[in-house]
Amino acid sequence: MIKIGFIGYGSMGSMIINRLLSKKALNEDQIIISTRTKSKLGSLKKEYPQIEITDNNQYLSSKCEKIFLFVGTSTVKEVIEDIMVNISGESHIIYIAAALTIENVESIFKGKITKFIPSLTSEVAEGISLICHNEKVTKNEAEFVNNLFNSISTVKIIEEDDFEIGSDLTSCSPAFIAKIFMEFAKKGAKNSNISRKEAEDMVIKTFYGTAKLLHDENMSFEELISRVATKGGITEEGVKVLDKSLPPIFDELFKTTQIKYEIIKEELNKEYNTN
Ligand SMILES: NC(=O)c1ccc[n+]([C@@H]2O[C@H](COP(=O)([O-])OP(=O)(O)OC[C@H]3O[C@@H](n4cnc5c(N)ncnc54)[C@H](OP(=O)(O)O)[C@@H]3O)[C@@H](O)[C@H]2O)c1
Repeated sequence: MIKIGFIGYGSMGSMIINRLLSKKALNEDQIIISTRTKSKLGSLKKEYPQIEITDNNQYLSSKCEKIFLFVGTSTVKEVIEDIMVNISGESHIIYIAAALTIENVESIFKGKITKFIPSLTSEVAEGISLICHNEKVTKNEAEFVNNLFNSISTVKIIEEDDFEIGSDLTSCSPAFIAKIFMEFAKKGAKNSNISRKEAEDMVIKTFYGTAKLLHDENMSFEELISRVATKGGITEEGVKVLDKSLPPIFDELFKTTQIKYEIIKEELNKEYNTN
């Protein structure tokens, strides 16, 4: 039986594999997981005894055609080079490092490649997974990957050139959103008798309700704002402050993350001998 292989069981790998199994998107006897510290797979193996676990990437690659790489960006090259002995034209490598280009990976593996950017929100089967396949990936193979990640998120297929801003919007953004609302709650607590914990709870529940209104009721941002910020009211004054302060903040945020992407991409291009 040809199995599906996952290499790397860290923060992202463990989250994705556990969600895929709990959603029954994959059967436990279908998969092999390889990770550097095999003992970290102990509790998963207890829960799913039919999963095969190893710390030998070459062994995994000898049993699999679809190989998901969930190792850190700087480890992808050494892992692919290590498993090259077993991979063929039928092999399909799926990786999750945003700054690593498909061209980088193609410089060492000329076959089927998918770049996939997960989001921590898949932990609750929400959010967006960004996906881009190279031209060697067939329609069926692309569908397999897209369906897999549709079970734990909404899959969005985008051009590789848009992955950086796209990743900011979907994969980095849970941290950006948490930071924005943490500061909002902090200042609310500071200017009242409400404790920080209570303020955070108030903000989280309101944020959850706001997301539901926008999503479930298909309400636009503009409509929601106009329904709360009545003309001449208090909310309108607060919105004016945000109107003035937020655009330059987000300009700077995107500029800064782009600079960081460029630095990492330059290092990766040197490592992979690509431009
Ligand atoms: N965090 C996010 O929200 C997010 C979102 C999208 C994409 N990503 C990308 O996801 C990738 C992984 O990030 P992460 O946060 O999950 O990293 P991580 O927690 O460091 O996990 C990496 C895993 O790979 C294992 N590993 C390292 N070298 C290995 C090897 N040679 N063979 C097999 N396994 C090996 C590590 O083993 P040990 O347990 O022994 O260390 C660890 O389990 C990164 O490229 C990151 O940019 C992250």
